[in-house]
Amino acid sequence: MEKAPVTDFATDFDHTDPTWVADPYPIFADLRERCPIAHTNRYGGAWLPVTHKDVAAVANDTEHFTSRMIIVGNGRPDDYAPPRPIGVAPPISSDPPFHQIARRLMLPPFAPRKIEALQGYTEELCASLLDALGDRTDVDGAIDYAQHIPVALIAKMVGLPPEDGDLFRGFVHTILEGVDLPVEERQVAFEPIEAYIIALIEDHVANPRDDLVTYLLDAEIEGNKLLPEHIFGTIALLIVAGIDTTWSAIGASIWHLATHPEDRARLVAEPELLDTAVEEFLRAYAPVTMARLVIDDFEFEGCPMKRDDWLLLSFPAANRDPEVFERADEVLIDRQVNRHAAFGLGIHRCLGSNLARMELRVALQAWLDRYPNFELDPTGEVTWSQGQVRGPRQLPLRIVG
Ligand code: HEM
Repeated sequence: MEKAPVTDFATDFDHTDPTWVADPYPIFADLRERCPIAHTNRYGGAWLPVTHKDVAAVANDTEHFTSRMIIVGNGRPDDYAPPRPIGVAPPISSDPPFHQIARRLMLPPFAPRKIEALQGYTEELCASLLDALGDRTDVDGAIDYAQHIPVALIAKMVGLPPEDGDLFRGFVHTILEGVDLPVEERQVAFEPIEAYIIALIEDHVANPRDDLVTYLLDAEIEGNKLLPEHIFGTIALLIVAGIDTTWSAIGASIWHLATHPEDRARLVAEPELLDTAVEEFLRAYAPVTMARLVIDDFEFEGCPMKRDDWLLLSFPAANRDPEVFERADEVLIDRQVNRHAAFGLGIHRCLGSNLARMELRVALQAWLDRYPNFELDPTGEVTWSQGQVRGPRQLPLRIVG
């Protein structure tokens, strides 16, 4: 069913509206001047803070905001009946005090040492993706390159067959982009992947190996094995959190370099800028927006929030706040002070940030080594994902010289 277009983002915002999907930053800038907390009656009622201060305040306030649901959709929270205190996908869906227990459990597999050990594999992976493109001068940066990198890494870490990549991407699409589907349809769409993850766990019970599924099967909380829904939810989370996010960040960085030849030429000439460039791409094109639910009626910054209202937690908007970042809407690949919020703020700060940064660095370096000169294909169309993870899904490029 066609939705009514948004006429005023201050009172009727929709993060799936085509204007927002194409370019949300002017909307954030306008709302920062006018509101700065927007509201909509869509999705059963939602709020949108757009300043860094308000986004940080919500992210740090677990007394009034719960992570029980983090993707805005049409269903009411109880339709999904997520079991407490675990929630649908621990630790991201858990609140204190259980959150800390579920998070601590996941720290060892994401420690810097573990991620460093994956760098060689990532380099080989990027080289083989580029080799497969041969001498082609028309290449899609999202379809032919960016999307494959995080899928392969998650598959390796979690212990999934890499050839099932399309299945994971379909799963992620249903969760992140299918937010307008009726609740029943959304649930039916989940069934194949639920069956897939259950079969994966059963196979690991029978055949333990050195991967994250076996790690979770062996893990204990206060001497007890994890509940099956905890193991299931964490695996589902890693598939969702690990794939679309990094794919989007790599794609948006390549899009920036295709549309800003001066930055591309500078990064090729000064590869030592790669680290600051990666942080700046993460700041300027932060792919992830999260959500919270209001726990009980209360007033936040003058807004009368009601129990079970959504709150869209826009880290992308926080990252463009001129109160915190000088020349916030400009991309400065040598920006020195850059305490951006792309990986979140507060207790749920991203567990995969070391992995994501390593993937971004390796992917961009390999791409620029192979293609120092490229631009958007003027005959093609760039498309961006809709929903809470934003990145290019079609990125047709022309390789020059
Ligand atoms: C550029 C890529 C990425 C970005 C921008 C990103 C962003 C985020 C953000 C904003 C949060 C906070 C969520 C909240 O406040 O509700 C988060 C949490 C999380 N991320 Fe990432 N993420 C990325 C890649 C990854 C990867 C590769 C993984 C692992 C495979 C991962 C795993 C997680 C997990 C497990 C959490 C939950 C942490 C908790 O609840 O304590 N992320 N991420």
